[in-house]
Amino acid sequence: SSSLLGAMGERRRAHAMLFPFPCSGHINPTLKLAELLHSRGVHVTFVNTEHNHERLLRRGAASGGALRGREGFRFEAVPDGLSEEERAAPDSTVKLYLSLRRSCGKPLEELARRVASRGDDDDGVPPVTCVVLSGLVSFALAVAEELGVPAFVLWGTSACGFACTLRLRQLRQRGYTPLKDESYLTNGYLDTPIDWIAGMPTVRLGDISSFVRTLDPTSFALRVEEDEANSCTRAQGLILNTFDDLESDVLDALKDEFPRVYTIGPLVAAMHGRVNRANGLGGAAAGLSLWEEDFACMAWLDAQPAGSVLYVSFGSLTVMSPDALAELAWGLADSRRPFLWVVRPGLVAGGANALPDGFVAETKDRCFIAEWCAQEQVLRHRAVGGFLTHSGWNSTTESICAGVPMICWPGFADQYINSRYVRDEWGIGLRLDEELRREQVAAHVEELMGGGDRGEEMRRNAAKWKAVAEAAAAKGGSSYDSLDKLVEQLRLGCQ
Ligand code: UDX
Repeated sequence: SSSLLGAMGERRRAHAMLFPFPCSGHINPTLKLAELLHSRGVHVTFVNTEHNHERLLRRGAASGGALRGREGFRFEAVPDGLSEEERAAPDSTVKLYLSLRRSCGKPLEELARRVASRGDDDDGVPPVTCVVLSGLVSFALAVAEELGVPAFVLWGTSACGFACTLRLRQLRQRGYTPLKDESYLTNGYLDTPIDWIAGMPTVRLGDISSFVRTLDPTSFALRVEEDEANSCTRAQGLILNTFDDLESDVLDALKDEFPRVYTIGPLVAAMHGRVNRANGLGGAAAGLSLWEEDFACMAWLDAQPAGSVLYVSFGSLTVMSPDALAELAWGLADSRRPFLWVVRPGLVAGGANALPDGFVAETKDRCFIAEWCAQEQVLRHRAVGGFLTHSGWNSTTESICAGVPMICWPGFADQYINSRYVRDEWGIGLRLDEELRREQVAAHVEELMGGGDRGEEMRRNAAKWKAVAEAAAAKGGSSYDSLDKLVEQLRLGCQ
């Protein structure tokens, strides 16, 4: 009977094995989801690649310590199959994607079987009862099928980003892509209205994704994105790091296509509100940063006036040309405002992150350059008043949760649609042209950070969205309830 099944289900704990694509933009939200599931009593196995696992261990106490895990929360690792040469290649992300697909299924499956039999917890490790994947590792849907357990996909973009990616196939079939020749990049074609994506009546072709900007009929990136998004239909449920009020129209439309959509974001707000309180974890305990954070920037921020600093960072994957770097540098210098700039190793194509001659001398009294920072903390610092971002979805949600308006410079994937919504739908940002020009950079910084009406309005809107985001993640909010439903569904899977 159902009550007997219910009683049995209560005795067996749900055990989620989570496996993100091995980059910061996927690891960060997946880890937050893992923490939230664990705080609700779900047993967690979090799987990194061996390469990242070792990299984190080498980082010592900060991240290495976090890898020790705790009761009901274990970190494990599987090989990514890449050689050192492939890892150093300019297209290493593509190589990594292919290598995981080719070689990672069996190790994941074996790992899932092994962790349950090891019994190294006080009360034993229950069998894996579900697999949670981030986007780009859809090959592991087959692992869940082999194990006979349900799979859930945490797609790491906005709902809009996901809806657009789903439609890349139709864009190709209807002849919008690939572009006919180079001139289509600049002749206004990318402004073609696309009014047939449900819930998104005002988008234009160029907003949809960087992957529509291709002349190549066999574009690898385009195929991968559309295949990965469409493969989500094979999962039991789709988990999105967004909240209902932010993207209600597109979410309503997606729910027609996907019977189980869990909108549990913004994960950064959910974590702040709940896990910290429930487990007494400090913010840092939940992080697995692949780069060492420079905490000296926090002391520098402490010395700056409230709302005065522009934070500049393009996430973990963006690569820019030396010319673009120089235009950005001089635009920031010309803005005459204080800025904290993350110049990540590998940010500039060709290797060296050389800043233009004279730039450091000219800006040294109002600039701090870090290789990597604790971004969530930085965005919440009272000195930070604006964020110049590549519009990755994590950065965007972190900025929303901190109430910080943005200047967007999207570069690839979903970043175009995110920036479109940031500027036009949510009213919390400006957007730079694709080709960076120092005059525009300086003018946008002035508009965002200065005392003008538009800046005021963006700050007001940002404060409003911060409050709405927090309410969604708080007890009784839509994201809180959605997480409840997800946990319920995971428990059903063990009966
Ligand atoms: C990728 C894709 O590029 C992006 O389009 C997609 O939406 C998510 O996956 P990435 O480019 O790295 O991610 O950007 P983003 O989503 O913004 O994630 C970057 C993460 O790194 C954020 O969580 C941010 O807090 C963190 N970060 C960045 C730091 O902790 N320190 C830094 O100095 C910079």
